Amino acid sequence: MAGRIPQSFIDDLVSRIDIVDLIDGFVPLKKAGKDYKACCPFHGEKTPSFTVSQDKQFYHCFGCGVHGTAIGFLIEYDQLSFVEAVEQLAHKCGLTIPIDSFSPSKPTPQDGPDLYELLEKASLYYQQQLKSHPDAKTAIEYLKNRGLSGEIAKRFDLGYVPDGWDNLMQQFEDNEKMKDALLTAGLLSKNEKGRVYDRFRDRIMFPIHDYRGRIVGFGGRIIAQGEPKYLNSPETPVFHKGSELYGLYMARNAIRDTGRALVVEGYMDVVALAQNGIDYSVATLGTATSKAHLDRIFRHAPEVVFCFDGDRAGKEAAWRALEIALPSMQDGRQASFMFLPDGEDPDSLVRTLGKEEFSILINTAKPLPEYMIDSLAAQADLSRMDGSARLAKLAKPLLEKLPQGVLRQLIKQKIEQMIGIQISVATTQQSGRTASRKEISRGTSQQGKTDIQQAIGYLLQHPEFGAKAQGLESLRDSGLPGFSMLADIVQSIQQSPAPNTAALLERFRDRKEFSRLESLASWDHIYDTEEATDAFNVLLTKFSHQISEARLNQLLEQSNENLSKDEKEELKVLLQRKN
Ligand code: CTP
Ligand code: MN
Repeated sequence: MAGRIPQSFIDDLVSRIDIVDLIDGFVPLKKAGKDYKACCPFHGEKTPSFTVSQDKQFYHCFGCGVHGTAIGFLIEYDQLSFVEAVEQLAHKCGLTIPIDSFSPSKPTPQDGPDLYELLEKASLYYQQQLKSHPDAKTAIEYLKNRGLSGEIAKRFDLGYVPDGWDNLMQQFEDNEKMKDALLTAGLLSKNEKGRVYDRFRDRIMFPIHDYRGRIVGFGGRIIAQGEPKYLNSPETPVFHKGSELYGLYMARNAIRDTGRALVVEGYMDVVALAQNGIDYSVATLGTATSKAHLDRIFRHAPEVVFCFDGDRAGKEAAWRALEIALPSMQDGRQASFMFLPDGEDPDSLVRTLGKEEFSILINTAKPLPEYMIDSLAAQADLSRMDGSARLAKLAKPLLEKLPQGVLRQLIKQKIEQMIGIQISVATTQQSGRTASRKEISRGTSQQGKTDIQQAIGYLLQHPEFGAKAQGLESLRDSGLPGFSMLADIVQSIQQSPAPNTAALLERFRDRKEFSRLESLASWDHIYDTEEATDAFNVLLTKFSHQISEARLNQLLEQSNENLSKDEKEELKVLLQRKN
């Protein structure tokens, strides 16, 4: 992997941040003895079993078994990639990720220009053109006609790209590496003959920002008539339509403040809503709402309102959104569906109705449970028994998609009332990860662990033990499962002491055994350090016997003549020790 973040930096980062502070920012924690507690943010519960250890810099839920480091928490809770999580933590502590070996989230090209920088520069160029290019007059006129002010255009960084094949290209150095990078960034296109030209020409440009405000792509709208109406950036290493939302970065504070996000379809809808004082809307980028979209939104607010056209296509899209949303509907979250009058979209409607009336429509959007039940009921004739059976059959897979909780129970109850009998619904299919949590959650005892696993567990939880674990190198060749992992951990600590559990764990994130290590780090064994020291020493002694034994057998297997003088001496010592 090119541009790796140096492990020493991760070490440093993990020892500077405090996981208690970090998690407390998302889930308020209460001190409980040595640790901190809260109701687990990863599963619904009423009594807190989510525990954060300041010593270990590690969290663990005794209810569902989730666990991890601060980096792991951001990855899970905030749906970030590893690099994004590291960037965020680094930003929090004012650290810069060492640039010589790593450029933040610079996926490709490895040693070419930074895609984010190119996209940013392109956007500045487009904005500049909207202000100064002679042909921008029609663009400005067009935006004004659609009711947009200069201030809103500025808030959304709207721009204009003049007609021509190489306006943008000319803003950058003229060499192959640069062209490749601009192609990768989706700013240029290439025809069959290999000719390279500006992808966007004579369009109003809507930059698309990621969660950090970096520009990752563009939508370009044709002015007046033409095809296609909107041209979008293709998927690139930094732009993924399935998870980005247009406008989220600009709307994030308003979404947090109002506690809700409005999901609409188009760029112009978002901008026009903001123009009219509704500043918490986001748009999917010409794709259906995905689970990734919803997870992003629910990070910012507990309520989402979907806005759809009232036509048939809108209704179908709404139903798809419902199905996608169900698994994310933990208790506490809400989703509603709002349908617009025929021929209207949020842009046209908000301009006619204004903020107040449009807000009333948002407030009276149909709650997900009602929408679901009404839609199902419309497909079944409940005056007939086979109609009731049909309702049960239709409802079952949807109920199964809902996470277990009060909402699921309530909807189930309601349907049961409608048909007059109880229906059986399978418990939520846990994902692979969740299922494996179960196995490793509380109750796993010492007995269930091999000596090696126990030793690794002690080491992870008390990295200082590593300093005195000598002579384990020879374990590597023993072929016993886990020994080389143990030796690696010891070696790592001896090369550079690990400040805490989390820092030590992070050194092994790339290993296939990582999740096993995480479990061992959260294994609740003897907490008392003295007792743990004793237990660890006992294991070390045991290992050293095993090493001697293995070596002895190895020497005994060779016939006496084949042994060197040193080996004969060694054999003698080993035999004496054994007796
Ligand atoms: N879209 C697209 N490509 C198209 C048409 C639409 O990617 N050729 C996406 C855009 O994200 C657009 C959204 O679908 O914003 C909604 O499209 P549509 O309803 O056709 O456009 P409006 O948003 O109403 O655009 P406008 O009001 O500017 O006509
Ligand atoms: Mn429109």
